[in-house]
Amino acid sequence: MPNRICTRPLRWARITNDQCVTTVIRSSQRDEGSEIKYTEQPVDPVKEGNMEQNGTSEFFCRHIKHDEVEEAYNIVDKEGWNLTLEKFRLLCKKQPRNFYVAVTPDGEVAGTVSYTQTFADEYILGNLVVKETMRKKGLGRKIVQDTLEMFRHKVIHLTAVPGADQFYLNLGFQMSEPQQGHEIRHILVDVKLVDGRVQAMGNAADDISIAPFDKANLEEFIRFDSHMRGYDNTVYASVVAGCTKVLVARRKSNKKFVGYVSAFMKREEIVLDGLFADSDDIATLLFREILNQFPETTKVKLQMFPSNQFLVQFGQVVMSEVYNRYSLGGNPTPVPEAKTYNVSDCDYAL
Ligand SMILES: CC(C)(COP(=O)(O)OP(=O)(O)OC[C@H]1O[C@@H](n2cnc3c(N)ncnc32)[C@H](O)[C@@H]1OP(=O)(O)O)[C@@H](O)C(=O)NCCC(=O)NCCS
Repeated sequence: MPNRICTRPLRWARITNDQCVTTVIRSSQRDEGSEIKYTEQPVDPVKEGNMEQNGTSEFFCRHIKHDEVEEAYNIVDKEGWNLTLEKFRLLCKKQPRNFYVAVTPDGEVAGTVSYTQTFADEYILGNLVVKETMRKKGLGRKIVQDTLEMFRHKVIHLTAVPGADQFYLNLGFQMSEPQQGHEIRHILVDVKLVDGRVQAMGNAADDISIAPFDKANLEEFIRFDSHMRGYDNTVYASVVAGCTKVLVARRKSNKKFVGYVSAFMKREEIVLDGLFADSDDIATLLFREILNQFPETTKVKLQMFPSNQFLVQFGQVVMSEVYNRYSLGGNPTPVPEAKTYNVSDCDYAL
Protein backbone atom coordinates (compact mmCIF):
# COMPACT_ATOMS: atom_id res chain seq x y z
CA MET A 1 0.00 0.00 0.00
CA PRO A 2 1.50 3.38 -0.93
CA ASN A 3 2.32 5.82 1.81
CA ARG A 4 -0.71 8.06 1.50
CA ILE A 5 0.53 10.43 4.14
CA CYS A 6 3.13 11.77 1.76
CA THR A 7 0.69 12.35 -1.05
CA ARG A 8 -2.00 14.04 1.03
CA PRO A 9 -0.27 16.81 2.86
CA LEU A 10 -3.49 18.54 3.84
CA ARG A 11 -4.33 15.68 6.12
CA TRP A 12 -1.06 15.77 8.01
CA ALA A 13 -2.30 17.95 10.79
CA ARG A 14 -4.91 15.33 11.51
CA ILE A 15 -2.58 12.37 11.45
CA THR A 16 -3.47 9.78 14.02
CA ASN A 17 -1.29 7.76 16.26
CA ASP A 18 -1.82 4.61 14.21
CA GLN A 19 -0.76 6.34 11.03
CA CYS A 20 2.47 7.50 12.63
CA VAL A 21 3.36 4.01 13.70
CA THR A 22 2.46 2.59 10.30
CA THR A 23 4.82 5.01 8.62
CA VAL A 24 7.60 4.10 10.98
CA ILE A 25 7.21 0.41 10.41
CA ARG A 26 7.10 0.77 6.64
CA SER A 27 10.26 2.79 6.60
CA SER A 28 11.94 0.10 8.71
CA GLN A 29 10.99 -2.52 6.17
CA ARG A 30 12.67 -0.50 3.44
CA ASP A 31 15.85 0.04 5.45
CA GLU A 32 17.65 -3.06 4.41
CA GLY A 33 21.12 -1.90 5.40
CA SER A 34 20.13 -1.23 8.99
CA GLU A 35 22.37 -3.00 11.48
CA ILE A 36 20.71 -1.98 14.72
CA LYS A 37 17.54 -3.62 15.95
CA TYR A 38 14.96 -1.39 17.53
CA THR A 39 11.98 -2.01 19.65
CA GLU A 40 9.18 0.01 18.15
CA GLN A 41 7.26 2.00 20.66
CA PRO A 42 3.77 3.17 19.83
CA VAL A 43 3.66 6.89 19.33
CA ASP A 44 1.51 8.69 21.85
CA PRO A 45 -1.33 10.60 20.32
CA VAL A 46 -0.23 14.11 19.42
CA LYS A 47 -2.38 16.76 21.01
CA GLU A 48 -3.66 18.79 18.09
CA GLY A 49 -4.47 21.69 20.38
CA ASN A 50 -0.81 22.06 21.32
CA MET A 51 0.30 21.73 17.77
CA GLU A 52 -1.99 24.50 16.65
CA GLN A 53 -0.88 26.65 19.55
CA ASN A 54 2.81 26.52 18.75
CA GLY A 55 2.36 26.71 15.01
CA THR A 56 4.05 23.42 14.16
CA SER A 57 1.03 21.54 12.90
CA GLU A 58 2.25 21.68 9.33
CA PHE A 59 5.41 19.74 10.12
CA PHE A 60 5.68 16.01 10.33
CA CYS A 61 8.55 14.10 11.96
CA ARG A 62 9.64 10.72 10.67
CA HIS A 63 12.72 8.68 9.77
CA ILE A 64 14.90 10.11 7.07
CA LYS A 65 14.49 8.79 3.56
CA HIS A 66 17.40 7.94 1.34
CA ASP A 67 16.78 10.86 -1.02
CA GLU A 68 16.59 13.39 1.84
CA VAL A 69 20.06 12.72 3.19
CA GLU A 70 21.80 15.46 1.27
CA GLU A 71 19.09 18.02 2.04
CA ALA A 72 19.33 17.22 5.75
CA TYR A 73 23.11 17.35 5.61
CA ASN A 74 23.03 20.80 4.01
CA ILE A 75 21.01 22.13 6.92
CA VAL A 76 23.44 20.62 9.40
CA ASP A 77 26.47 21.77 7.45
CA LYS A 78 25.46 25.42 7.75
CA GLU A 79 26.30 25.13 11.45
CA GLY A 80 29.93 24.37 10.60
CA TRP A 81 30.02 21.17 12.62
CA ASN A 82 32.44 18.27 12.28
CA LEU A 83 30.69 16.33 9.64
CA THR A 84 31.22 15.61 5.98
CA LEU A 85 28.55 14.63 3.50
CA GLU A 86 30.30 11.31 2.97
CA LYS A 87 30.23 10.53 6.66
CA PHE A 88 26.64 11.66 7.10
CA ARG A 89 25.63 9.50 4.13
CA LEU A 90 27.39 6.44 5.50
CA LEU A 91 25.92 6.90 8.97
CA CYS A 92 22.41 7.28 7.50
CA LYS A 93 22.95 4.24 5.33
CA LYS A 94 24.09 2.05 8.18
CA GLN A 95 21.59 3.36 10.71
CA PRO A 96 18.69 4.93 8.83
CA ARG A 97 16.46 4.46 11.82
CA ASN A 98 18.63 6.71 13.97
CA PHE A 99 18.11 9.71 11.69
CA TYR A 100 14.97 11.80 11.61
CA VAL A 101 13.64 14.74 9.67
CA ALA A 102 10.78 17.19 10.10
CA VAL A 103 9.20 17.87 6.73
CA THR A 104 6.69 20.40 5.47
CA PRO A 105 3.61 19.29 3.53
CA ASP A 106 5.62 19.94 0.37
CA GLY A 107 8.23 17.49 1.49
CA GLU A 108 10.84 20.15 2.29
CA VAL A 109 13.18 19.12 5.05
CA ALA A 110 12.75 21.75 7.76
CA GLY A 111 14.85 20.17 10.47
CA THR A 112 16.71 17.07 11.45
CA VAL A 113 18.01 15.17 14.46
CA SER A 114 19.81 11.89 15.06
CA TYR A 115 20.47 9.55 17.95
CA THR A 116 23.60 7.46 18.54
CA GLN A 117 23.25 4.52 20.86
CA THR A 118 25.89 4.10 23.54
CA PHE A 119 24.74 1.81 26.35
CA ALA A 120 21.45 -0.09 26.63
CA ASP A 121 18.55 2.33 26.18
CA GLU A 122 21.02 5.20 26.27
CA TYR A 123 21.47 7.55 23.33
CA ILE A 124 23.31 10.70 22.37
CA LEU A 125 21.13 13.26 20.66
CA GLY A 126 22.93 14.99 17.85
CA ASN A 127 22.75 16.95 14.62
CA LEU A 128 19.69 18.80 15.84
CA VAL A 129 19.10 21.70 13.49
CA VAL A 130 16.05 23.61 12.35
CA LYS A 131 16.30 25.52 9.09
CA GLU A 132 17.19 29.10 9.90
CA THR A 133 14.00 30.57 8.45
CA MET A 134 11.84 28.21 10.51
CA ARG A 135 13.31 28.70 13.96
CA LYS A 136 11.56 30.01 17.05
CA LYS A 137 8.21 28.54 16.05
CA GLY A 138 8.38 25.51 18.28
CA LEU A 139 9.75 23.18 15.63
CA GLY A 140 12.97 22.35 17.49
CA ARG A 141 10.92 21.34 20.51
CA LYS A 142 8.56 19.32 18.33
CA ILE A 143 11.36 17.42 16.60
CA VAL A 144 12.89 16.38 19.89
CA GLN A 145 9.60 15.49 21.55
CA ASP A 146 8.09 13.65 18.57
CA THR A 147 11.19 11.65 17.73
CA LEU A 148 11.74 10.62 21.34
CA GLU A 149 8.31 9.04 21.22
CA MET A 150 9.37 6.87 18.32
CA PHE A 151 11.90 4.58 19.98
CA ARG A 152 12.54 3.02 23.33
CA HIS A 153 15.07 4.83 25.44
CA LYS A 154 15.85 5.65 29.03
CA VAL A 155 18.60 8.21 29.00
CA ILE A 156 19.17 10.81 26.30
CA HIS A 157 22.24 12.97 26.55
CA LEU A 158 24.09 15.54 24.50
CA THR A 159 26.63 18.31 24.47
CA ALA A 160 24.98 21.62 23.76
CA VAL A 161 26.57 24.25 21.60
CA PRO A 162 26.91 27.56 23.43
CA GLY A 163 23.56 29.34 23.23
CA ALA A 164 21.44 26.19 23.03
CA ASP A 165 21.52 25.50 26.78
CA GLN A 166 18.22 27.16 27.52
CA PHE A 167 16.50 25.31 24.69
CA TYR A 168 17.37 21.97 26.32
CA LEU A 169 16.54 23.17 29.81
CA ASN A 170 13.11 24.17 28.50
CA LEU A 171 12.67 20.62 27.26
CA GLY A 172 13.37 19.19 30.70
CA PHE A 173 17.03 18.27 30.20
CA GLN A 174 19.32 18.77 33.16
CA MET A 175 23.00 19.39 33.33
CA SER A 176 24.68 16.00 33.70
CA GLU A 177 26.40 15.19 36.95
CA PRO A 178 29.32 14.91 36.93
CA GLN A 179 29.20 17.40 34.13
CA GLN A 180 31.20 15.99 31.25
CA GLY A 181 31.39 18.97 29.00
CA HIS A 182 33.75 19.19 26.09
CA GLU A 183 36.33 21.87 25.49
CA ILE A 184 36.79 22.96 21.92
CA ARG A 185 40.10 24.46 20.96
CA HIS A 186 41.17 25.61 17.55
CA ILE A 187 44.95 25.64 17.67
CA LEU A 188 47.78 26.67 15.40
CA VAL A 189 50.23 23.85 15.91
CA ASP A 190 53.90 24.56 16.38
CA VAL A 191 55.35 21.46 14.77
CA LYS A 192 58.69 22.03 16.51
CA LEU A 193 57.01 21.51 19.86
CA VAL A 194 55.63 18.16 18.70
CA ASP A 195 58.99 17.14 17.28
CA GLY A 196 60.69 18.14 20.50
CA ARG A 197 58.38 15.90 22.48
CA VAL A 198 59.02 13.02 20.06
CA GLN A 199 62.76 13.45 20.43
CA ALA A 200 62.46 13.49 24.20
CA MET A 201 60.91 10.02 24.03
CA GLY A 202 64.22 8.59 22.91
CA ASN A 203 64.14 4.84 22.29
CA ALA A 204 60.54 4.52 23.50
CA ALA A 205 59.36 5.92 20.17
CA ASP A 206 61.23 3.23 18.24
CA ASP A 207 58.92 0.50 19.48
CA ILE A 208 55.81 2.19 18.06
CA SER A 209 54.80 1.95 14.43
CA ILE A 210 52.25 4.32 12.94
CA ALA A 211 50.56 3.16 9.74
CA PRO A 212 47.41 3.84 7.75
CA PHE A 213 44.40 1.81 8.80
CA ASP A 214 44.13 -1.44 6.89
CA LYS A 215 40.63 -2.76 6.15
CA ALA A 216 41.82 -6.27 6.93
CA ASN A 217 42.09 -5.16 10.57
CA LEU A 218 38.61 -3.69 10.87
CA GLU A 219 37.53 -6.06 13.63
CA GLU A 220 40.57 -5.30 15.72
CA PHE A 221 40.01 -1.58 15.14
CA ILE A 222 36.41 -1.84 16.29
CA ARG A 223 37.43 -3.85 19.36
CA PHE A 224 39.99 -1.25 20.36
CA ASP A 225 37.60 1.64 19.76
CA SER A 226 34.77 0.02 21.72
CA HIS A 227 37.15 -0.82 24.55
CA MET A 228 38.31 2.80 24.73
CA ARG A 229 34.76 4.11 24.84
CA GLY A 230 33.33 1.46 27.14
CA TYR A 231 30.43 0.58 24.82
CA ASP A 232 29.90 -1.17 21.51
CA ASN A 233 30.69 1.37 18.83
CA THR A 234 30.80 -0.95 15.83
CA VAL A 235 28.75 1.06 13.37
CA TYR A 236 30.37 4.38 14.06
CA ALA A 237 33.89 2.93 14.04
CA SER A 238 33.35 1.26 10.70
CA VAL A 239 32.05 4.51 9.23
CA VAL A 240 35.08 6.43 10.48
CA ALA A 241 37.37 3.77 9.09
CA GLY A 242 35.61 4.04 5.76
CA CYS A 243 35.61 7.78 5.20
CA THR A 244 38.27 9.59 7.20
CA LYS A 245 42.04 9.43 7.30
CA VAL A 246 42.83 6.92 10.02
CA LEU A 247 46.27 6.09 11.39
CA VAL A 248 46.88 3.20 13.71
CA ALA A 249 49.60 2.81 16.34
CA ARG A 250 51.03 -0.58 17.23
CA ARG A 251 53.78 -1.81 19.43
CA LYS A 252 56.40 -3.29 17.12
CA SER A 253 57.49 -5.86 19.69
CA ASN A 254 54.12 -7.60 20.02
CA LYS A 255 51.98 -5.94 17.27
CA LYS A 256 49.53 -4.80 19.91
CA PHE A 257 47.03 -2.14 18.83
CA VAL A 258 47.78 0.83 21.11
CA GLY A 259 46.05 3.82 19.56
CA TYR A 260 44.49 5.50 16.58
CA VAL A 261 43.72 8.91 15.20
CA SER A 262 41.06 9.88 12.70
CA ALA A 263 40.94 13.22 10.90
CA PHE A 264 39.66 15.11 7.90
CA MET A 265 39.89 18.59 6.46
CA LYS A 266 36.98 20.94 6.82
CA ARG A 267 36.94 24.67 6.26
CA GLU A 268 40.72 24.73 5.85
CA GLU A 269 41.27 23.16 9.22
CA ILE A 270 42.27 19.67 10.30
CA VAL A 271 39.38 18.26 12.30
CA LEU A 272 40.56 15.58 14.71
CA ASP A 273 37.72 13.13 14.79
CA GLY A 274 38.98 10.89 17.55
CA LEU A 275 42.40 10.27 19.03
CA PHE A 276 42.66 7.40 21.46
CA ALA A 277 45.97 6.13 22.79
CA ASP A 278 47.43 4.04 25.57
CA SER A 279 49.89 6.76 26.59
CA ASP A 280 50.88 10.39 26.05
CA ASP A 281 53.85 9.25 23.96
CA ILE A 282 51.65 7.28 21.60
CA ALA A 283 49.19 10.17 21.36
CA THR A 284 52.08 12.48 20.43
CA LEU A 285 53.32 10.13 17.71
CA LEU A 286 49.84 9.82 16.24
CA PHE A 287 49.37 13.56 16.37
CA ARG A 288 52.71 14.17 14.65
CA GLU A 289 51.90 11.73 11.89
CA ILE A 290 48.40 13.02 11.22
CA LEU A 291 49.85 16.52 10.78
CA ASN A 292 52.12 15.06 8.11
CA GLN A 293 49.05 13.80 6.28
CA PHE A 294 47.68 17.32 5.89
CA PRO A 295 50.70 19.42 5.00
CA GLU A 296 48.55 22.29 3.73
CA THR A 297 47.76 23.60 7.21
CA THR A 298 48.72 23.44 10.86
CA LYS A 299 45.36 24.67 12.09
CA VAL A 300 43.67 21.93 14.09
CA LYS A 301 40.29 21.64 15.76
CA LEU A 302 40.39 19.67 18.98
CA GLN A 303 37.45 18.61 21.10
CA MET A 304 38.44 17.15 24.42
CA PHE A 305 37.20 16.14 27.82
CA PRO A 306 38.32 18.69 30.39
CA SER A 307 40.21 15.86 32.10
CA ASN A 308 42.59 15.29 29.19
CA GLN A 309 43.84 18.35 27.34
CA PHE A 310 47.27 16.98 26.60
CA LEU A 311 47.31 18.01 22.92
CA VAL A 312 46.68 21.69 23.63
CA GLN A 313 50.34 22.16 24.64
CA PHE A 314 51.38 21.77 21.02
CA GLY A 315 49.70 24.86 19.69
CA GLN A 316 48.61 28.40 20.17
CA VAL A 317 44.91 28.54 20.94
CA VAL A 318 43.13 30.79 18.47
CA MET A 319 39.58 30.02 19.54
CA SER A 320 38.09 28.24 22.49
CA GLU A 321 34.61 27.19 23.61
CA VAL A 322 33.11 25.01 26.31
CA TYR A 323 30.14 22.76 25.59
CA ASN A 324 27.99 21.68 28.49
CA ARG A 325 26.47 18.26 28.73
CA TYR A 326 22.78 17.71 29.40
CA SER A 327 20.69 14.63 29.90
CA LEU A 328 17.09 13.56 30.15
CA GLY A 329 15.99 10.51 32.11
CA GLY A 330 19.03 10.34 34.36
CA ASN A 331 22.77 10.70 34.17
CA PRO A 332 24.56 9.02 31.29
CA THR A 333 26.83 6.09 32.10
CA PRO A 334 30.33 7.49 32.65
CA VAL A 335 32.83 6.64 29.95
CA PRO A 336 36.58 6.20 30.35
CA GLU A 337 38.37 9.47 29.66
CA ALA A 338 42.06 8.99 30.44
CA LYS A 339 42.98 7.57 27.04
CA THR A 340 40.67 9.83 25.03
CA TYR A 341 42.85 12.63 23.74
CA ASN A 342 40.19 13.89 21.37
CA VAL A 343 36.59 12.79 21.19
CA SER A 344 35.01 11.88 17.89
CA ASP A 345 31.79 13.40 16.68
CA CYS A 346 29.74 10.44 17.87
CA ASP A 347 30.69 11.49 21.41
CA TYR A 348 28.77 14.67 21.00
CA ALA A 349 27.11 14.09 17.67
CA LEU A 350 26.72 17.70 16.73
C1 LIG B 1 18.39 25.05 18.79
C2 LIG B 1 17.28 24.95 17.72
C3 LIG B 1 17.23 23.53 17.18
C4 LIG B 1 15.97 25.32 18.37
O1 LIG B 1 14.95 25.19 17.40
P1 LIG B 1 13.72 26.18 17.37
O2 LIG B 1 12.72 25.64 16.45
O3 LIG B 1 14.22 27.54 17.08
O4 LIG B 1 13.27 26.12 18.89
P2 LIG B 1 11.79 26.20 19.45
O5 LIG B 1 11.08 27.26 18.70
O6 LIG B 1 11.19 24.86 19.44
O7 LIG B 1 12.06 26.63 20.92
C5 LIG B 1 11.72 25.86 22.02
C6 LIG B 1 12.05 26.64 23.24
O8 LIG B 1 13.45 26.92 23.37
C7 LIG B 1 13.67 28.33 23.34
N1 LIG B 1 14.85 28.57 22.54
C8 LIG B 1 15.06 28.14 21.30
N2 LIG B 1 16.29 28.52 20.90
C9 LIG B 1 16.81 29.22 21.91
C10 LIG B 1 18.03 29.90 22.12
N3 LIG B 1 18.98 29.93 21.18
N4 LIG B 1 18.26 30.48 23.29
C11 LIG B 1 17.31 30.45 24.26
N5 LIG B 1 16.14 29.83 24.13
C12 LIG B 1 15.89 29.24 22.98
C13 LIG B 1 12.44 28.94 22.76
O9 LIG B 1 12.25 30.25 23.23
C14 LIG B 1 11.36 27.99 23.26
O10 LIG B 1 11.06 28.25 24.61
P3 LIG B 1 9.61 27.82 25.21
O11 LIG B 1 9.48 26.34 25.06
O12 LIG B 1 9.68 28.28 26.63
O13 LIG B 1 8.63 28.57 24.37
C15 LIG B 1 17.52 25.94 16.56
O14 LIG B 1 17.65 27.23 17.09
C16 LIG B 1 18.75 25.64 15.72
O15 LIG B 1 18.68 24.89 14.75
N6 LIG B 1 19.92 26.22 16.10
C17 LIG B 1 21.16 26.02 15.38
C18 LIG B 1 21.69 24.62 15.63
C19 LIG B 1 21.83 24.31 17.11
O16 LIG B 1 22.33 25.11 17.86
N7 LIG B 1 21.42 23.09 17.48
C20 LIG B 1 21.56 22.59 18.81
C21 LIG B 1 22.85 21.85 18.90
S1 LIG B 1 23.24 21.31 20.53
